[in-house]
Order: sequence, then C-alpha cells, then structure tokens
Amino acid sequence: MAEQESPLERLVAAVKASARYRHVSAAFIARVGAQELAKRPNLKAAIKATKDRLHQVGGAYLEARPDYRAWLERLRATFRGNLDDLRPLSLEIMRAHASTRERLPILAEFYSSILGALPPVRSVLDVGCGLNPLALPWMPLAGGASYYACDIYEDLVAFVGEFLGLVGVSGGAWVCDVLGEVPQQKVDVALVLKLIPCLEQIDRAAGRRLLDGLNANHLVVSFPAQSLCGVRKGMPATYEARFHELMEGHDWQVRRLAFSSELAFLVSK
Ligand SMILES: C[S@@+](CC[C@H](N)C(=O)[O-])C[C@H]1O[C@@H](n2cnc3c(N)ncnc32)[C@H](O)[C@@H]1O
Repeated sequence: MAEQESPLERLVAAVKASARYRHVSAAFIARVGAQELAKRPNLKAAIKATKDRLHQVGGAYLEARPDYRAWLERLRATFRGNLDDLRPLSLEIMRAHASTRERLPILAEFYSSILGALPPVRSVLDVGCGLNPLALPWMPLAGGASYYACDIYEDLVAFVGEFLGLVGVSGGAWVCDVLGEVPQQKVDVALVLKLIPCLEQIDRAAGRRLLDGLNANHLVVSFPAQSLCGVRKGMPATYEARFHELMEGHDWQVRRLAFSSELAFLVSK
C-alpha cells in the first residue's frame, strides 16, 4: 500500500516513472536517491536532485530515446559474418552516445595503439560500457575473444547483449552498479573508459575501489579531454593528477596515451 512505502521507495518509483530514467537500474536509483534524501527531508526536492544526478552520470550522454529495436534489425540485415560488415552502421549507432561519439575520430588509432601493444587479448570487460561495444570491429582482439560489458541502463545492456550474440562473440552484457559491486570476471583487459569522473561525483572512493578490485591483467583507464559542451577548462590536467593519486601505493606499470579527445592510461597490474 502506498502509505507503507518508505520515502526512498516512493522516490525510486517516481524516478522510474519518468520516460528518461525508467530503464536505469532501480538499485542505482536507490543508491543515489538515499544520498539525496539524506541531504534534505523534502521528497519532491530529493526526486529532482536524484534526476539531476542521473543526468550527470548517464542521461546526459544518451539520446533521449534510442531505438534499440530498429538498430538491431538493421544490424541483423547488415551482418554477413564479418565484423567489418558493420563498420558504417556501428559508427552511426555510436553517435547516439555523446561519450562514445567523442571517440569516433580517433577510434582506429585508439584501439590499435592501446590493444596492439599487448599480448593477444582473449577477453575484455567493458565497465560502464555505453555504446562502446559497437567499436568491436576496430579492436584488434585474438580470434574467439570474449567480451563482457555492463552499465546501469537495462535497455542498453539488453541491446549490447543482442549485438554480441548476433556477431557470435561470447561473453555477455548485464546491468551493474559498480559503486556497489566491482565485477569479478577474470579478463586480459578491463576498459574503464571515461567512467571514473562519473563514479566519483557520487562516491569519491569509488574509482580506487574499482581499479583495485578489477580482476584484469591490464586496465585501460581514460578521461575526457573536453567537457560535453566542448570546453576544456583544464580538465586533462585535473584528471591526470587524479589518476596518479589512484595509482599511489601500487607498483603497476603505467603507459600514458594522449589523444585529441581523450587521455588514456594503460595499466599493467
Ligand atoms: C561517460 S560515459 C562513458 C561510456 C563508455 N565507457 C565510453 O567511454 O564510450 C559513462 C557511462 O558509465 C555508466 N555509468 C555511470 N555510473 C555507473 C555505475 N555506477 N555503474 C556502471 N555504469 C555506470 C553510464 O551509464 C555511462 O554509459
């Protein structure tokens, strides 16, 4: 009954009722909502603050209503057994995610210089993946490599899972909230692309917990070189300093790779 619902349950239900956030993991909404309710007693204000936060960490990046069904139909119609068949369509789809889109001009260079420097990559975990798994045609992976991907959006990960199945790549996609739980797949490479600034807006300790906890031989950790509106505002220097703080106390090998739109670090654990 409505009267027995806690303020947090009412907040989650209200946020889930909005078209923009109905596919966001309820556990993630509850985590953010609990923080916002703790700051103010007013439920309406906490709902608004929660939506603002969700916008900052995910909603701002995605087109309002991605048509995943139509994309899948087109992917099915285009795929002839070779990932390269999908390049033009993958590029078109990746444009729908602002963060993934920023990488498109450097896509080939990005993956060939980072993954090409490693021994054959047989498994990848893409954390907070957005639409980045659609970049598979540009990734120099070993034949038969597995790809695992997770994000807070239920509909996005369902789409990514279908995409992986369609192209015959083993692995899978699932809903995650890495603020609460670090994925434990054992992989050659974990991609942590432009995720840490999103996590640390909500929990300052989350970046360190994630990098320490991932069960990967190599991490690719990246940061945006510009904000969504294209203004630089000294971001790369701030992010680089933060990255080095996150590496303190570890004797991991770090290689820095600067691209026009992204600053990346290849970390060998
Ligand atoms: C800046 S975008 C980066 C997307 C992708 N990694 C890329 O670089 O193309 C951040 C992504 O992380 C996801 N995200 C935010 N918070 C998350 C969390 N707590 N757990 C898992 N994913 C999260 C968002 O939904 C969004 O897709």
